[in-house]
Amino acid sequence: MAQLPADFLWGGALAAHQFEGGWDQGGKGPSVVDVLTAGEHGVARRITDKVEADEFYPNHEAIDFYSRYKEDIALFAEMGLKCLRTSIGWSRIFPKGDELEPNEEGLQFYDDVFDELLKHGIEPVITLSHFEMPLHLAREYGGFRSRKVTEFFARFAEVCFTRYKDKVKYWMTFNEINNKMDVNNPLFLWTNSGVIVKEGENAKEIMYQAGHHELLASALAVAKGKEINPDFQIGAMVSHVPIYPYSSNPEDVMLAEEMMRQRYFFPDVHVRGYYPSYALKEFEREGFSIPFEDGDQEILRNGTVDYLGFSYYMSTTVKSDVENDNTGDIVNGGLPNSIENPYIKSSDWGWSIDPTGLRYTLNRFYDRYQVPLFIVENGFGAIDTVEEDGSIHDDSRIDYLKSHIEALEKAVTYDGVDLMGYTPWGIIDIVSFTTGEMKKRYGMIYVDRDNEGNGSMERSKKDSFNWYKGVIASNGVTA
Ligand code: BG6
Repeated sequence: MAQLPADFLWGGALAAHQFEGGWDQGGKGPSVVDVLTAGEHGVARRITDKVEADEFYPNHEAIDFYSRYKEDIALFAEMGLKCLRTSIGWSRIFPKGDELEPNEEGLQFYDDVFDELLKHGIEPVITLSHFEMPLHLAREYGGFRSRKVTEFFARFAEVCFTRYKDKVKYWMTFNEINNKMDVNNPLFLWTNSGVIVKEGENAKEIMYQAGHHELLASALAVAKGKEINPDFQIGAMVSHVPIYPYSSNPEDVMLAEEMMRQRYFFPDVHVRGYYPSYALKEFEREGFSIPFEDGDQEILRNGTVDYLGFSYYMSTTVKSDVENDNTGDIVNGGLPNSIENPYIKSSDWGWSIDPTGLRYTLNRFYDRYQVPLFIVENGFGAIDTVEEDGSIHDDSRIDYLKSHIEALEKAVTYDGVDLMGYTPWGIIDIVSFTTGEMKKRYGMIYVDRDNEGNGSMERSKKDSFNWYKGVIASNGVTA
């Protein structure tokens, strides 16, 4: 069987706020996730005004990579990772976000982490903003409602690119910039953009306005990055949940096609450098005013990305003659016509398990954009049981990952998709983004910590650890 390219980037993915901890260490300021309480399946995380003394914030300590990074990186190296995708906590570098000078201690922390990775031959793949906007920018400027925040992000990007230009080659600007398309769930606009929609406002319009500023910020960063080091590979990162038609009824097919625009809008602009016509029609139809200024078109055109990174966990399905109240439903993205897919099973958190959807996604993206793709998140959130002897048999996680690796291999070796790499999500157990739980585990390395923050923080290997090590060593063929 044909194989993946020899330089295929096998890795693991994490995000600063979900694993670093040290939320107030080294001069770091509070970020938008530092005011998120813990939730659970079906119970939303709350956004508090500020850090309150009597609340529990699971991201504050997370899994304390901040002080254990050497030990953790040694485990990643033992697994054979070729790359590690993580992010830079924006508020570690600019504690409030609007300062002129960065925080040296924050910059030094990432120097240390990148040096440690490189020492072990692990390539850092870095997202500039993975839900980590300084809280001050959200509270004082309304987040990306304000064009000023675009400037602050561009400054942050320039500082990072300059400082790490010889250590980091692969970058992404914003994590899952498009998940705020689901405006029914306040978590997304808050973490993506630092925005809270006020009563009487049109949430969709606000989302597009903030989105415009983010797209500009991304384009400015790409252009600056290329100036600083022309060898940089700078990508976009979107969440992708393909939307299937329930049946061959042309109404279902057309509905799914139309809804897929929610998934494509942001990558269309990132990759092509201009707004797609269906979006311009929507703005006209809805009377949305988008804060376009002279020169914006040029900024977007000059800042197109080199590759498209995306997360893939599941698919969803729509039917033209059903209407649900999916408001705030994380799984169906608030889609009013979604319906269970009878061919697909789901995880305990209701996330559908659909490996073919990954091959389908790779093909649709590649047909549409013809740029290299990078699967920067994929994985299985589940409850793990620690046996008396300390072992953890996570067969269902292995099955999930194996089937998705087979799907991506087919997309590359049979369909001819240009795929740079694969970094499964949460290579070590971390705090869940949507629920704030620890018990929703993705890792191949177990961390002894529970939902309430109890536990020794000790790390141990699950069965998937050695399994994935074998996959990497054989470049996927034994998956
Ligand atoms: C993606 C995010 O949405 O999905 C991650 O980029 C997140 O930050 C991951 O953790 C899985 O979601 P959850 O809610 O299961 O942690």
